Amino acid sequence: MFRKIRYRLFLSNLLVLGLVLLGSAFAVRLVFISNLKQQANERLMAIALNTAGSAEMDEGEFEWEMEFSPQLLEEAQQAFQWFDPKGELLEQQGSTRYISTLPLAAEPTVRSQIDEKGLEVITLPIFDKNNRQLIGYLRATQSLEEIDETIAKLDVGLAVGAIVAIVLSSLGSGWLNSQAMQPIEESFNRLKQFTADASHELRSPLMAISTNAEVALTYPEGIRPGDEEKFQAIAMATEQMSQLTEDLLLLACTDRVSSFEFERINLTTLLTDLIKLYKPQAQTKQIELKAEIAIGLWLNGDEAKLIRAFTNLIQNAIQYTPVGGEVEVSSKRLGRELLVTIEDTGIGIDSKHLDRIFDRLWRADRSRSYYEGGSGLGLAITKAIVERHKGTITVTSQPNVGSCFDVRLPTATESKRL
Ligand SMILES: Nc1ncnc2c1ncn2[C@@H]1O[C@H](COP(=O)(O)OP(=O)(O)OP(=O)(O)O)[C@@H](O)[C@H]1O
Ligand SMILES: [Mg+2]
Repeated sequence: MFRKIRYRLFLSNLLVLGLVLLGSAFAVRLVFISNLKQQANERLMAIALNTAGSAEMDEGEFEWEMEFSPQLLEEAQQAFQWFDPKGELLEQQGSTRYISTLPLAAEPTVRSQIDEKGLEVITLPIFDKNNRQLIGYLRATQSLEEIDETIAKLDVGLAVGAIVAIVLSSLGSGWLNSQAMQPIEESFNRLKQFTADASHELRSPLMAISTNAEVALTYPEGIRPGDEEKFQAIAMATEQMSQLTEDLLLLACTDRVSSFEFERINLTTLLTDLIKLYKPQAQTKQIELKAEIAIGLWLNGDEAKLIRAFTNLIQNAIQYTPVGGEVEVSSKRLGRELLVTIEDTGIGIDSKHLDRIFDRLWRADRSRSYYEGGSGLGLAITKAIVERHKGTITVTSQPNVGSCFDVRLPTATESKRL
């Protein structure tokens, strides 16, 4: 039970940490990339403005002074294009790899050319210094390759950082979980031990009361006429209490490996015998107890405990089915599992109660007295026994229609490792 809680805690910690890391990595990446692009833009804009400032009209000819060496442009991964006012290309400098193929925009613009080239493109209109007339356009482009490389390095850094953080914090959270769970586990074990000890200690006084009541009832002539009923009530209550202490003891011991004795069991025989045993009880309530048990169903398990588990289910089915109803026990092999189904046409269970019925001491109809029903430990015991056999128990039910309990247990070959 605690292993499951630890595992769940560990996974939730990991999930939360993973989400936090993912969120922060995403935010860091976003801010970093936007800063990087802004800086590259500012640099390119400064060069473009400087270059555009050098252009002028000289005797009707559009001229500019800035000349860049091809080597410098290649290193800076930049290119420049000059256009006349009609958008006709006059000249271009720089490698064709860094020259934009976007149509010329007549406005000063900053655009990105996101294709296999990956360019940042700045277009600036150029005006004559004297008459402020448009004399042409300058288009400056900068490759995004360098930025992409930096982003790729950042991604690797973030991924490595996240993996290291997850590994370290998994170790840390595993250790913290075990530290936090230890006292809870210890006190739970102490409580279980106490329940087991108390139930064990109660056996003898209960046995004494029951024996005395039985002896008194064997010789009714020795007791006053009115007291016989009282002795009967004492005997009945003692029997119920003995059953309850036995149940508590069994529940407290189900987790102990030593309390189970595993051996090869024929489930077909076990179920057939149980049905024979409960046929008379069903008949007294005019309930038809049907069986459809496949032959040769073997498993590794504790016979006494399995009898207890299936007895609880069959008893419940009979107990919670009104006179004239039907109870059917069927069993078959499903791959590597054995499926036992106990179905009844009884009072059913409200869907809002379905997830509570396996809780200890839980009963749907609490108004019934203890003597009328049981203690509410039956299904908790059944579930603990089934789980101890590495099996599962599930229920489907509809009020006033009936209930169906499915028990799945590993077959003999599967459960040998138990
Ligand atoms: N087949 C069923 N049909 C309808 N209700 C059921 C059925 N089986 C169980 N229940 C409901 O689930 C509750 C818990 O069942 P459980 O067997 O644990 O306790 P119980 O039968 O009340 O007492 P006991 O400990 O003697 O078995 C029952 O009180 C009943 O309300
Ligand atoms: Mg019961």
